[in-house]
This record gives sequence, structure tokens and C-alpha cells, in this order.
Amino acid sequence: MPLHIVDHPLVHDALATLRDKRTGPDRFRRTANRISLLLAAEALRDIPTRTSSVETPLGPAPACLIGADLVVVPVLRAGLGMLDAVLELVPGARVGHIGLQRDEITAIASRYYTKFPPGLAGSHVLIIDPMLATGGSAVAGIRLLREAGARDILVVCIVAAPEGVALVEREFPDVDIYTPVVDQGLNEHKFIVPGLGDFGDRLYGTTQVDG
Ligand code: PRP
Ligand code: URA
Repeated sequence: MPLHIVDHPLVHDALATLRDKRTGPDRFRRTANRISLLLAAEALRDIPTRTSSVETPLGPAPACLIGADLVVVPVLRAGLGMLDAVLELVPGARVGHIGLQRDEITAIASRYYTKFPPGLAGSHVLIIDPMLATGGSAVAGIRLLREAGARDILVVCIVAAPEGVALVEREFPDVDIYTPVVDQGLNEHKFIVPGLGDFGDRLYGTTQVDG
């Protein structure tokens, strides 16, 4: 099954804080980091490993080390809120960037930036983008990575809509999605309901205030 629901109480506790409209940017950022650690750990459960050994003060011990080249790709801006967590888990990961911006009226994502590390064909690629709404951004990101040679791709998000999950599954049935939740659906502005609002604006304090 390409859809993996990460059903851990610590994940859902953090999600509740992110959803809460009273949570300001400082707490939102720290909570985004915490939930991303937990989600990434789950998404990387099947990362290839290699066996080795280490010397403890009492002698040799078997060791299991990460055996893959991990490339983490945040979708700007909001995906940057998940990046530090992944790099804390895998400090040696390489980082690619995809800049995508949804049009406020049509909700169609257009690309303004791409930079990938070379040699993606043999890498384990983790796309991080907190909101999977229409799925347009995720599909555009996966397509760019495939064109750049990436084969082994996972998507990690914090809130998904059924529409976004369905689009990714239809376009890229071999790409696994990790999310704590699939919400009710999209509203007329293509925002996830109940969702958590605009993730990037809440992360960076750029929410428009009336008056
Ligand atoms: C948000 C979010 C996703 C995208 C999801 O980004 O971070 O990238 O929307 O929507 P979709 O599934 O309908 O494509 P946004 O375009 O608002 O840009 P931002 O991260 O710079 O705020
Ligand atoms: N982007 C967001 O930040 N939130 C949504 O609900 C949909 C897209």
C-alpha cells in the first residue's frame, strides 16, 4: 500500500498543537520539528542498511549502519520547516530544493527554483512537504525528481487530503506517502479542511491580518 498512516500518540499530540489556531510561529516551528522527527523516523524504517562492527570499551559489538545515500528534498517554503528534523536523524544526508508556489486563485503550483544533488539514480529520496492538498505540488516535485533520475522516492507530509493522496497514487503508484492523517477534504479555495491553515504562513509569521 503506498499510503502509510503514522499513528503514534506523540505524532497526534504534536498535530493537535499545529492545528490549534492559537499556536504562534515560535511554538509552531518547534512543533513542526518535533512531528517531523517522528514522521521521518517512520518513513526511514526501511532504509537500506549495512552491517559493520564497533569497539565498545568491553570489546567488539555488531553494528547496523545506514547503507543508502539519503537525499532529502524540501518543497519550499513550508517544507523547510521539516528539514532540520531529517538532518538531525541523518546528518550525512544530501539536500535538494524545489521551489513551488500555488496560485492563490487557481491553486495550481508553479516552479520558481530547483537544485538537486547529482547522482540521484542510486539514492533514497525523501520529499518533505507538510501539506498534501490537491497533490499538484507533490506530483510536480516527484516528476522533477524522476526527470533528474531519481527512482526510489517517498513523500512525507503532516496533513493530507483525500484528493492529494488520490492524485499521487494515480500518477505515481510506486511512491509511498507517509502522513499522520487524511483529513475530510478541500474547501473552495483548495485548503485542507479542517487542516491547519496555511502552513508556510504560520511557520514564518506571514499570515495576513485584516485592518
Ligand atoms: C503549500 C504547501 C504545499 C502546497 C500543497 O505551499 O506547502 O507545497 O501548498 O498544496 P497542493 O497539494 O494543492 O499543491 P504554497 O504553495 O502555499 O507555498 P509556501 O510553502 O511557500 O507557503
Ligand atoms: N497549503 C497549505 O499550507 N494549507 C492547505 O490547507 C493547503 C495548501
